[in-house]
Amino acid sequence: MERTLIIAKPDAVQRGLVGEIISRLERKGLKLIGIKMMGLDSPLLQAHYAEHIEKPFYQDLENFMKSSPVVVMAWEGYECVNSVRILVGATNPREAAAGTVRGDFAIGTGRNLIHASDSAVSGKSEVDRFFDDKELFSYDKSEYSHIYETHERQ
Ligand code: RTP
Ligand code: MG
Repeated sequence: MERTLIIAKPDAVQRGLVGEIISRLERKGLKLIGIKMMGLDSPLLQAHYAEHIEKPFYQDLENFMKSSPVVVMAWEGYECVNSVRILVGATNPREAAAGTVRGDFAIGTGRNLIHASDSAVSGKSEVDRFFDDKELFSYDKSEYSHIYETHERQ
């Protein structure tokens, strides 16, 4: 099954929106396989946001991501990377659709509440970057037969 890394960013923690984010992913039918609160440091952020290091907003982004603890989560589900990006909404919250996390709760691009992996490949590598194997859980979810067609949960 595909995996995606979610970070409830410092603004989500400070604004008490961690539960709202978790609830939306749970309601979708995705499986939570790992979760922890942590503080992010520069080396981890430079690895996580490597594609953005040369961009003008990078230092503000790094400072912001270090400004408060975050909640990191690993979620699993059939084609979950794309489904979660749809639930999260556009990077600029002012352009994010109503009903998405960013569309419903955020305004500033640098305060957009949530990170979600942007491809299946990055989902796998980001989950591996933030979680040790022993922090990830494999278990049956009893509702799966009511969420997936048989071929989708092989
Ligand atoms: P994320 O990686 O956090 O899930 O967000 P994303 O894919 O929607 O956006 P991305 O292009 O990867 O940018 C990463 C984060 O950097 C901040 N950002 N600021 N000021 C700016 O122009 C700007 N552009 C991006 C945002 O916090 C964005 O989520
Ligand atoms: Mg991104």
